[in-house]
Amino acid sequence: MDFGGDRTVRIWHRSTAVKTSEVESLYIEKFGQKPACSARAPGRVELLGNHTDYNQGFVMALAVDKCITQAASPRADGVVELVSAEFRQTAKFSIDSIAKDPAVPWSDYAKGLLIELGKRGVRMGGYNAAIHSTIPLGAGLSSSAALLVSTALVVRDLYPYSLTETGVGLPPSRKPDGSLPELSIAEKMILSKICQAAENKFVGVNCGLLDYISSLYGRANKVVLIDCLNLTVDWVPFPEGLSVVVCHSGVKHALVAGEYNERRRCCEEAAHALGVHSLRFVSPSDLESGRRKLTDLQYRRAAHVVGENNRVQLGAQALRSNDLELFGRFLFESHKSSQENFENSCPELDLLVELAKSDPACIGARLTGGGFGGATLNLVKRGHAEAFRQRMASGYEKAFGRKLESWECEVVDGAA
Ligand code: GLA
Repeated sequence: MDFGGDRTVRIWHRSTAVKTSEVESLYIEKFGQKPACSARAPGRVELLGNHTDYNQGFVMALAVDKCITQAASPRADGVVELVSAEFRQTAKFSIDSIAKDPAVPWSDYAKGLLIELGKRGVRMGGYNAAIHSTIPLGAGLSSSAALLVSTALVVRDLYPYSLTETGVGLPPSRKPDGSLPELSIAEKMILSKICQAAENKFVGVNCGLLDYISSLYGRANKVVLIDCLNLTVDWVPFPEGLSVVVCHSGVKHALVAGEYNERRRCCEEAAHALGVHSLRFVSPSDLESGRRKLTDLQYRRAAHVVGENNRVQLGAQALRSNDLELFGRFLFESHKSSQENFENSCPELDLLVELAKSDPACIGARLTGGGFGGATLNLVKRGHAEAFRQRMASGYEKAFGRKLESWECEVVDGAA
């Protein structure tokens, strides 16, 4: 299958921050020919709604211009070979016998996804892929979701499939230029669940749907509002006068290490003790009246999630009415709740939020993503991002003797 170079270039140019040359050069260097297709999937910033997704709650996110790009071609021998610009080891395995390889842990994501697609009835052969990432690892911008989603898209381009709630439908037909129609809105949700199953079952992190949904449904300059009970998505404009600045503490977050899974378990136990299916069904007043049914730990974990659900709903109203001061306040409250109730912050993240709070250019800041390290999200008045980053870097270095990595991110379209 060779769809020609033009098409490849067109797809790559859809995004502002796509590394055309890097991923293509890597592919050519490794496999000695041009790739047949390519796909890109953005990382995400969790704007508000921390650890609400697996509690069937509400969350707001942005797809950002840090992304993973893959270039790929089919193979006739049923072998999958993956090379990454970031990791030295190559992953090579047969599509018919997929197993973990501790020497190439990053390939677990692709493997888990191929297994889940296979279970759904997607028929695939082998392929070669080169993977390039601009998503900083461990910064909580969800490089794993971008890897899963971009894998699903290159595989779809090589072995077209359409997804239904129960399995697969007729494969989509190519357009005259050789490209496939985009995934439908419904297929994006099904694919999000497939990615989640891959990460839960094969990688072993019991994460929710936030990361995949953000990467797939993101829109340029829009906030993605996700309802994780009804599995619906809506968009509100991202405020024009603001910039997104991500400050990376440099503390590696360790989702796989079990803290994340432990938090999830505790939330589920709290919901069970309160007699509901999930914390989504608990209002702030329900939580107070049911407090005696919970241990102190369960109460605090639940208070975080219930508070976050409330803040997301009020935050959506604040965004719609352009009350940015109020919205920013919700971000600071969210971080405080992470510190005190959910205990998924750390001294470095706390300091970053303190610095941001006392900075005149910043209207709101909080840890973003799973926590336990990683990054903070800062909403900064447009035009002030550069100076803000410098002030943050000097404050951080003074306190921790460490250089601060930070980025001003654009809000971009979802995966394609
Ligand atoms: C990680 C997980 C998400 C979500 C966030 C916390 O990013 O992958 O599913 O739970 O943490 O909100």
